Amino acid sequence: MFGTRRRCCELLVLHCRSFTALMAAAPRSPSSVPAFSTGSPTPTPKRLGTHNGTFHCDEALGCFMIRLTSKFAGSDIIRTRDSKVLETLDAVLDVGGVYDPSHDRYDHHQKGFSEVFGHGFITKLSSAGLVYKHYGKEIIAKELQLDEGHENVQRLYLAVYKSFIEAIDAIDNGISRYDTDQPPKYVNATDLSSRVGHLNLDWMDPDQSAEKENAAFEKAMMLAGSEFLESIHFHVKSWLPARSIVIQCLSSRGDIDSSGEIMLLNQFCPWKLHLFELEEELKINPPTKYVIYQDDRGKSWRVQAVATSPSSFESRKALPLPWRGLRDDELSRESGIPGCVFVHMSGFIGGNQTYDGALAMARAALKF
Ligand SMILES: *[C@@H]1O[C@H](CO)[C@@H](O)[C@H](O)[C@H]1NC(C)=O
Ligand SMILES: *[C@@H]1O[C@H](CO)[C@@H](O)[C@H](O)[C@H]1NC(C)=O
Ligand SMILES: *[C@@H]1O[C@H](CO)[C@@H](O)[C@H](O)[C@H]1NC(C)=O
Repeated sequence: MFGTRRRCCELLVLHCRSFTALMAAAPRSPSSVPAFSTGSPTPTPKRLGTHNGTFHCDEALGCFMIRLTSKFAGSDIIRTRDSKVLETLDAVLDVGGVYDPSHDRYDHHQKGFSEVFGHGFITKLSSAGLVYKHYGKEIIAKELQLDEGHENVQRLYLAVYKSFIEAIDAIDNGISRYDTDQPPKYVNATDLSSRVGHLNLDWMDPDQSAEKENAAFEKAMMLAGSEFLESIHFHVKSWLPARSIVIQCLSSRGDIDSSGEIMLLNQFCPWKLHLFELEEELKINPPTKYVIYQDDRGKSWRVQAVATSPSSFESRKALPLPWRGLRDDELSRESGIPGCVFVHMSGFIGGNQTYDGALAMARAALKF
């Protein structure tokens, strides 16, 4: 034990005390126990290991996230590839060749590793995804000040994986977004993984010391961690309320039209992604064809054709061809519906001056 301790002092220990502002989000557990007995009454912080040298977004985020748990709050970070040192640590991320959550070993580089998040997600995990898989619910529950079993914790656990973590796992494991051999048409180097990569020491930098490298890693943890927390907060204050509105509007769609294919969005919110997710989750059939809502100035009403998928420009049932590209009186004559304002050339959206007019357009379009 003594030998280990001395070795350890030769290594650089990141205390990450500059994190206090971010860490305030994660209450430290008074029950956290010392990592090993030192014979002294003050509890020793736990020790997390990750590799030194070039760092990536996955372990920067993984280290940040694991320190938000009760078990590892305030722990020190030791960056090394020395397996004798790694063996003595309380958790090891992205190095060591072992995935064993019961001993907090979270490497993903070893042959045969194939862990995925589950819940329908099949992207191979990185050290970030591994930490999130095992501790994500605890972290989110603390941020929301809810029990881990609360349905909103489970909901956010999946939503934050989908919108934030999965891309980091995929990028780290070299999985591209599309099945294609085509070279990309342009470079996109502003995503989080790229920005973390840019924080590594420049080869031209005369100071390539471990101290400088560790300071850069600390910045990387801060960058990835703050965006992770922002993602959770966005989901709490914006995504969840929008989801509730869409659930409520979907459930009363039968009152709008007996077809069940027209939804009135009675309070504007970002509805598109929720609509796709909820239709699938609630097994809604037939799928919604049109959504009616008041325009942002509250002056007229819009009727929007729902797309075939979240990323598609194609509509499930575009507004009728003869209406497209027409405006005002000409459109009203063509549709036989007074007060029409416009229908877009592609037929994905149209407008009427009143709610009744927009509903009439949707109903007529359904029968077209
Ligand atoms: C990692 O740290 C060890 C000392 O623990 C050092 O010998 C090695 O050069 C470092 N590796 C890199 C890539 O910086
Ligand atoms: C670049 O990548 C980021 C992250 O993957 C993405 O959010 C952004 O939309 C991309 N930008 C473009 C222009 O594709
Ligand atoms: C469309 O809006 C106009 C203007 O308010 C209105 O006169 C017309 O009745 C509306 N159409 C229908 C079918 O209600």
